[in-house]
Amino acid sequence: MVQNVAPLVAELEPEDFHLLSGVEQGMRFSEWVQRSKIPKFSRLTVEEVDYRLDRCLDRGLLERKTIQYEGYKLQFEGYDALALHTFAERDTVTGFGSSLGVGKESDVYEVQSYRPMALKYHREGFTNFREVMKERDYTSDREHVSWLYTARKAAEREYERLEALYPDVSVPRPIDHNRHAIVMEKMEGVELSRAKLDDAQVVGVLDLVLAEVTEAYRQGFVHADMSEYNVFVDESGVTVFDWPQAVESDHENAAEFLARDVRNIVGYFARKYPAQVPDIDEESVVAVIEAGEFESVREHSD
Ligand SMILES: Nc1ncnc2c1ncn2[C@@H]1O[C@H](COP(=O)(O)OP(=O)(O)OP(=O)(O)O)[C@@H](O)[C@H]1O
Ligand SMILES: [Mg+2]
Repeated sequence: MVQNVAPLVAELEPEDFHLLSGVEQGMRFSEWVQRSKIPKFSRLTVEEVDYRLDRCLDRGLLERKTIQYEGYKLQFEGYDALALHTFAERDTVTGFGSSLGVGKESDVYEVQSYRPMALKYHREGFTNFREVMKERDYTSDREHVSWLYTARKAAEREYERLEALYPDVSVPRPIDHNRHAIVMEKMEGVELSRAKLDDAQVVGVLDLVLAEVTEAYRQGFVHADMSEYNVFVDESGVTVFDWPQAVESDHENAAEFLARDVRNIVGYFARKYPAQVPDIDEESVVAVIEAGEFESVREHSD
């Protein structure tokens, strides 16, 4: 588990961030950044670097290893600290709250801005990376750099998609992004998986979710990971979130992903609310979504 760095960020000094970002720079070129190169990357004196390295190591922001040379790399905590510091400098984040969720590939926290927001740190590549590390004690530079790069790319992709979809599709409003982190509006309500819908609401909510899928498709995207865990429900409607893996509607597998998204959602409703959900012809639902003409699953049942 990656530790919450918010309390640390408050006690770090500007030079500590220079050091961390120096190591980040160095990691573009090699897995472990050679100690002797850090003064140049961080624009700190050798003495400063010595002092700051210890502070950052003690706080679990960096890791050290001696291979042919003494090398340093960022831990995820160090990368989190850099992103959070940037958000604080930009006044995107003015306070830090509790955890909102731990996904397979993310940590999400409540943060304070002009109103409550959600900060999502992407962790893509982290788990795989740890597995690779277990198997061999030497990892090539390319593989190593991948966790920083993979997580950053995922955050960029998610942010781009949110910007493209908001507000036509009901998604969390994107606020800011930096490195592997994004800040978006905090959703109200509960995950669909935990909602207990009244009998009379069931088909209506299913229709709302599929209407968002239809609008996203019209805007050029297929979510590609639709499930009861990536939809929030409250009195005002539904919100679809978790977009990094979304593909463009003209992607070669878009049709397949769209059909799977529809099967997942319809299947979930049918299992959880068998008495309320009619027998639905999923293929015909997919066809009207592709045509941009979806209205209700009732038109696609026997
Ligand atoms: N904008 C938000 N507002 C409130 N809570 C959120 C927000 N975004 C995410 N969460 C919470 O954090 C959890 C994880 O978020 P998300 O699904 O985006 O991450 P993930 O790691 O990709 O998930 P998965 O496990 O599906 O791969 C969500 O299930 C949700 O409870
Ligand atoms: Mg999710």
